[in-house]
Amino acid sequence: MQNKGLSQNLVLKELESRLRNDFAYDSGKIIGSMCTCPHPLARKVYNRFLDINLGDSGLFPAVVKLEKETIHMLGTLLSNLEASGHIVTGGTEANTLALWAAKKLSKKKQCEVIMPASAHYSFDKAADLLGLRIVRVGLNDGFQVDVEAVKKAVNLNTIAIVGIAGTTGLGVVDPISELSKIAVENDLYLHVDAAFGGFVLSFLKELGFNVSDFDFALPGVCSITIDPHKMGLAPIPAGGILFRNERLRKAVAWNVSYLAGGETEQATFVGTRSGTSVIAVWALLKHLGREGYKRIVRRCMRLTEKLAEEIPKIKGLDIVTEPTMNIVGLKSEVFDIRQIAKELRFRKWAVSLFPNYIRIVVMPHVRKHHIERFIEDLKDIIDKLGG
Ligand SMILES: Cc1ncc(COP(=O)(O)O)c(C=O)c1O
Repeated sequence: MQNKGLSQNLVLKELESRLRNDFAYDSGKIIGSMCTCPHPLARKVYNRFLDINLGDSGLFPAVVKLEKETIHMLGTLLSNLEASGHIVTGGTEANTLALWAAKKLSKKKQCEVIMPASAHYSFDKAADLLGLRIVRVGLNDGFQVDVEAVKKAVNLNTIAIVGIAGTTGLGVVDPISELSKIAVENDLYLHVDAAFGGFVLSFLKELGFNVSDFDFALPGVCSITIDPHKMGLAPIPAGGILFRNERLRKAVAWNVSYLAGGETEQATFVGTRSGTSVIAVWALLKHLGREGYKRIVRRCMRLTEKLAEEIPKIKGLDIVTEPTMNIVGLKSEVFDIRQIAKELRFRKWAVSLFPNYIRIVVMPHVRKHHIERFIEDLKDIIDKLGG
């Protein structure tokens, strides 16, 4: 750090110039990320309440109430008026809290958690931290978890099953109702990772899309991850963990005695945490309502359908599977997918590369002309590769 500070103007100028060439959502070039431009209202709200620390909740009882209301609104969306939980830093923290609760509620010594091969790597981080063994099971032809394989994997050490409602790679929804049955029959904790799908699936259902059950309406579901900083349009960081009831949330609660606001309870991984993230999510849920989110999801799906229609028209390219939500997997039997990704990135398309396909996420910042431009570039790249 330098001895004498710079003026605010100089610091801002330097930042503007240094960050200018980074990717920006409104360019439409970021088509491989699950994040997007926060809604303008959320930006306003976020900037206004930056000083609130929900780790010391005794100081901010009004914000504690807003968080409860936020969880209640999300719980209602996920068919549970009794849901209890928190707005956390993201899907990783939410998934970690779920496995932590599962471990604390179990009396077993060697703890195993069964999850699909498609589960997000945040579970590996969580398992490493918590000393859990992950048992990954294979997928069926539709890229969903193989239910028979899950049944076979259950043993005396199993404490939990994880199902995904919107996989990271392809946006596929596991047969959560089947997982719920297995969980109930074997008295196991079932966590549903709807980090991405939580803000999409319920609205798709209301829009008439065929969406299988994935939420608390299923009796075995103990907790759900639902991230406002993905399709919820909230500023980063805003993840969501919802437990079926207060008893489950309490499994990860700690009492802290020394804080300025008096003795308090924390049931998140972090101590000091952002109150303004919570307020921004509350504001968005109030402002957009179900109708607002439905409009956004409908628009994303229309563009997704267009993309999924256009890709197979290009010789040598295909989609991995029909999109369930606003995620498309682009594959090729003819060309090296890594080469296509490289060429796309050379043209500044920020795509996401999986081992056998390129993932495109049609987030709310992506517009029709971006998709058209992308298809043109893709055609051009394939032409040059000898298609
Ligand atoms: C299904 C799923 N779960 C969890 C996560 C982790 O979320 P975060 O990056 O907010 O920690 C992701 C991230 O993409 C995800 O796709």
